[in-house]
Amino acid sequence: MRESMVIAIDGPAASGKSTVAQRVAARLHYLYFDTGVMYRAVTLAVIQQQVDVNNQKAVEQIAMATQINVTPPSIEDGRQYDVVLNGVDVTWQIRSNEIEANVSLVSTYPGVRQAMTERQREIGLQGRVVMVGRDIGTVVMPDADIKFYLDASVQERARRRYTECMQHDMQTTYESILAAMQSRDHIDSTREIAPLRKAADAIYLNTSDLSIDMVVDQVIQQLVLTE
Ligand code: C5P
Repeated sequence: MRESMVIAIDGPAASGKSTVAQRVAARLHYLYFDTGVMYRAVTLAVIQQQVDVNNQKAVEQIAMATQINVTPPSIEDGRQYDVVLNGVDVTWQIRSNEIEANVSLVSTYPGVRQAMTERQREIGLQGRVVMVGRDIGTVVMPDADIKFYLDASVQERARRRYTECMQHDMQTTYESILAAMQSRDHIDSTREIAPLRKAADAIYLNTSDLSIDMVVDQVIQQLVLTE
């Protein structure tokens, strides 16, 4: 295995990429960086400032002016990191249904993507990082040492998210989660800039019938093989 690698993991929502990336990063003592939180934080800033998410120019201005910091967890409440938006901890707020419903539209805007991609690249170029997102292998870090694309059927992904919601006593239905996920998949994979897709040189892993441990093992096996 190479020293100081950049590991890119892309895939749709609930494909297992965040959990897998976090475990791989912990094993290697690498930084785990989930780029989705940045798009979620921008979306929250837009909603907080009562700006219409359809107002592209205004949303892009907010993205450029917004300070987002992702730091190691300061509280033990199940979080993987702290997300700080303009000085305020918003780690759990960015997980709301309102953010889920609007984040994909916000993420289509070129000005938003440019601002986020630049910041993500700065972190990626420092190396020793497992970066997770939709466009890491294709756009943010096209020269990553190794790339993975994690996938699963939309029904299986909705089932996983529904189970998570039930564990946290959240009021929702499987049908509404499935519909929201299909909508997000569609916007993310058909947008003009940096759509969700597998990089040509990414390793494809279908996680539908695999446990998290099995996926982590497969990723580690591939890493060991890289020279
Ligand atoms: O990964 P997560 O579900 O937190 O991402 C939220 C949304 O952020 C995605 O649905 C997508 O619209 C956007 N995103 C993106 N590019 C990334 C990461 C996330 O467009 N690299």
